[in-house]
Amino acid sequence: MSEENAGLAGAKERIAAIVEDVDSLPSLPSIVVKLIDVVNSSESCAEDAAALIEKDPALTSKMIRLANSAFYGIPRSISSVTSAVVVLGFNTIRSLVLSASVAKMFEGKHTIDIDRFWKHSVVTAMASKIIVRHLMGVRMMDPESAFCAGVIHDIGMLIFSQYMTNDYTKVYEYARANSISLLEAEDKILGVNHAQMGKILAERWSLPLDLEYAIVYHHKPDEADKAVPLVNVIHLADNISHDLGCGHWDGESRKPECASCRAELKIGDADYAKIMFNIESSLDKSQEFLAILK
Ligand SMILES: [Fe+2]
Ligand SMILES: [Fe+2]
Repeated sequence: MSEENAGLAGAKERIAAIVEDVDSLPSLPSIVVKLIDVVNSSESCAEDAAALIEKDPALTSKMIRLANSAFYGIPRSISSVTSAVVVLGFNTIRSLVLSASVAKMFEGKHTIDIDRFWKHSVVTAMASKIIVRHLMGVRMMDPESAFCAGVIHDIGMLIFSQYMTNDYTKVYEYARANSISLLEAEDKILGVNHAQMGKILAERWSLPLDLEYAIVYHHKPDEADKAVPLVNVIHLADNISHDLGCGHWDGESRKPECASCRAELKIGDADYAKIMFNIESSLDKSQEFLAILK
């Protein structure tokens, strides 16, 4: 048995136990489940969404701070959840509530550098939104769904980090020592990667299919058969986040960008330069969002 595998005897069994006992994984708070229903219903109004959020005082205060942050650049001050919903819209509120809830759900101890994890996720989310906005008119995609997908694309890592602390420490060490990507190290050492683990969580939470596909295929967009534009956007944004120094550690290795990704999205060199300019100009705003989110 090789050295790295010898140190991880039982890792596969531990993963199997997690997968088999999905009830042991965290549930999506009922407020988020209900809010997704409210957002999806054509009969809902701003008061319906606000009434749900206001049941949770901590979430309410976070919502109002986020709505007033430079990230959204709303010129007047927002003092109630109802006005936050009216001004920002249902889809933005859904992504704010999902982001804040996931951050809270996994706020305990971690193997990974959790600050870097959230920075990577939020910069990927912001980059995804900017890419989709740039593609408006070419591709019909919702910028807020892209933001949501960006925030949660690596969520499988949080399960490894909280439920398999020792095993995941070794995965990190192995990826670093051998200059390979985390995904490759997970496949090699655990036999399951964070995209596959994320799928289990997405199914347990009954997330919309496009979000699930973004989680499952963000490293291999050419393997997706549905939600292909969104999957390509998240793949590109994930790579950009790394390029901007927002990886999980300094000098983290990763596979090169999928060759067909930009062509599928019809992003040429000039478009890409504009997108990068917009993302780099927005990095400071994402810091503020991040500070409130945590
Ligand atoms: Fe990933
Ligand atoms: Fe990522």
